[in-house]
Amino acid sequence: MAGFHAVVLAAGQGTRMKSAIPKVLHPLAGAPLVEHVLRAAAEAGAVRCSAVIPPDAAGFDKLATPIETRFFVQEERLGTAHAVLTARAALEAEDGPVLVLYGDTPLVSAESLKRLAAALDGGAQMVVAGFHARDPKGYGRLVTADGELLAIREDKDATPEERAIGLCNSGIMAFEGATLLGLLERIGNNNKAGEYYLPDAVEIARADGHRVVFQVIGEDEVRGVNTRAQLAEAEAIMQGRLRARAMESGATLIAPESVTFSYDTVTGQDVLVEPNVFFGPKTVIGDGVTIKGFSHIEGATVEAGAIVGPFARLRPGTRVGPTAHIGNFVELKASHVKAGAKVNHLSYIGDTEVGEKANIGAGTITCNYDGYKKYKTVIGAGAFIGSNSALIAPVKIGDGAYLGTGSVIGKDVPDHALAVTRSPLVMREGGALRIRARHEARAKAAAAAPAPKGDKQ
Ligand code: UD1
Ligand code: MG
Repeated sequence: MAGFHAVVLAAGQGTRMKSAIPKVLHPLAGAPLVEHVLRAAAEAGAVRCSAVIPPDAAGFDKLATPIETRFFVQEERLGTAHAVLTARAALEAEDGPVLVLYGDTPLVSAESLKRLAAALDGGAQMVVAGFHARDPKGYGRLVTADGELLAIREDKDATPEERAIGLCNSGIMAFEGATLLGLLERIGNNNKAGEYYLPDAVEIARADGHRVVFQVIGEDEVRGVNTRAQLAEAEAIMQGRLRARAMESGATLIAPESVTFSYDTVTGQDVLVEPNVFFGPKTVIGDGVTIKGFSHIEGATVEAGAIVGPFARLRPGTRVGPTAHIGNFVELKASHVKAGAKVNHLSYIGDTEVGEKANIGAGTITCNYDGYKKYKTVIGAGAFIGSNSALIAPVKIGDGAYLGTGSVIGKDVPDHALAVTRSPLVMREGGALRIRARHEARAKAAAAAPAPKGDKQ
């Protein structure tokens, strides 16, 4: 079908989240709730988007919008039909299909949206996505006959017979754009909540002689997030999908339920992920990479055959080259560790380029920050950095250079040079015996002295 216009309703206050940030901006698998909805819409064929947002809400300007999105502020929260009308300026010229989505139902799949749009192509004027609710309480019920939708009755306004219906309104609906505004304008607020209900469009469309149908989609796709507990449930479902995706693309997860992915994590073939690994946004893991347990990785690219962890932290801007090794308690930030290089133990490497096959000894620290600015360190190919060295940036260590253990390097080191800073070693024969004798004599004298007056033991 032709590309559609997605209207995303996101003006809900989300008071039950007990949060200073708007509900739809809470993160799920590394991205705000509403971004998941926008991505599903884009993937399903949306070409334009209108997002209805609350007044005075910060953070919407930072959303990553996969399609052209216009924002409309709904000053007063008068109901879902009123919310759609808030985007009137974008809908006036719209004669193609329009899909209405909720910003707080982030699990909806592109496939379901495509099915909805296809049903519109089948000649209906309006299509509603319904679902069989385990617990229908609180949802609008779909009143149907012969596969057609007659009405949607809100829980508050339903008769006992209508309340017994298990098929519910997910809130996701598709309309023919040319008639949408005409329907919305005739929706009143004569109901228990005194709100303008979008579901009332069903009966108005039918009275106009239009066909209104419904499509059933899985309950897990339309789960709404209204509380932190529901956010955690949605996260669990999303993580299940992301783990399945990683395994389908050829990753072995030893304990899948202990691995956390972001919506955009890319994993190659023959990747091995040990238990308790976290992937933040913008991470790409190449073929044949092993990520050992308890590693935390975000904004990083790990290239083919590299080994990371256990207990490694890769921060944004990190690139680990092919077959490189990053070991335990190593933190990398905005650094490129090139092919075959090793940073195996207890190091901080920040704003650094580590040349091919360089070896960074245990406890090496790049001192990249002087309290005011960050500076770069460049370590040449094949360089050997002795354990417990401090590299004071900006500094350049040449190819094949060799730094002695415990060096503090504040000057560039030429290619193939040896550099070492070390304080002289002091050695006194029998010195340890003399120190112990002195301490023991002091302890004895203290024990023999009378207790001070008034000291009750
Ligand atoms: C709505 C539906 C109900 C359906 C249920 C599914 C109506 C009247 N009822 O009920 O049939 O079963 O969703 O979850 O539509 N919003 C605005 N502005 C408003 C009102 C709502 O932007 O003035 C947004 C909310 O942010 C939310 C969505 O619209 O994303 C739904 O609103 P909500 O108040 O949660 O409706 P429900 O009572 O859940
Ligand atoms: Mg709701």
